[in-house]
Amino acid sequence: MPHWSTLIRDIPDFPKPGVTFRDITPLLADADGLKDCIDALAEPWRGVALDAVLGIESRGFILGAALARVLGTGFVPLRKPGKLPGPTVSQAYALEYGEDRLEMHVDAVAPGARVLIVDDVLATGGTLAAALELARRQGARVVGASLLLEVPGLGGRDRWDPDLPIDVATAR
Ligand code: PRP
Ligand code: MG
Repeated sequence: MPHWSTLIRDIPDFPKPGVTFRDITPLLADADGLKDCIDALAEPWRGVALDAVLGIESRGFILGAALARVLGTGFVPLRKPGKLPGPTVSQAYALEYGEDRLEMHVDAVAPGARVLIVDDVLATGGTLAAALELARRQGARVVGASLLLEVPGLGGRDRWDPDLPIDVATAR
């Protein structure tokens, strides 16, 4: 496990009883931790042709924008409902605790664009699967997903395309 993974803390019973929240704010606040975790996220994708990083609101924005800067790509936000000003495509998904939707501007990615999807945590996989669906509906070519950590035992990977790589940086 990388040194910076110790800066991710578990908060029990948040946002509701029985759920353990993986809090990355101590990692983000640490200069070396932030730099090294972004470098770790980037590592598998260096040299891979990419047009954009797609970051999932909200913690995927923080990691995804930094990752896009390191990889030399643009950044596209996948947002919670009603936040994007232009025409959007929308995808519903079930969460570990509730239900939500993700939206993307219809013109955010060019058809055939090679994109990497980024988020902090893979839990049930609903969020990541919705992001994949949105990107593909807009004609993007998804090359994989990049995450900081995975919550085991929730079947998250089962909802992802088995032919596409998922990189989990804390697992390396
Ligand atoms: C958390 C986490 C992932 C998602 C993973 O986000 O940041 O995006 O849940 O869960 P899943 O694999 O079960 O779909 P959350 O929706 O809590 O929002 P936030 O990033 O805005 O805090
Ligand atoms: Mg999230």
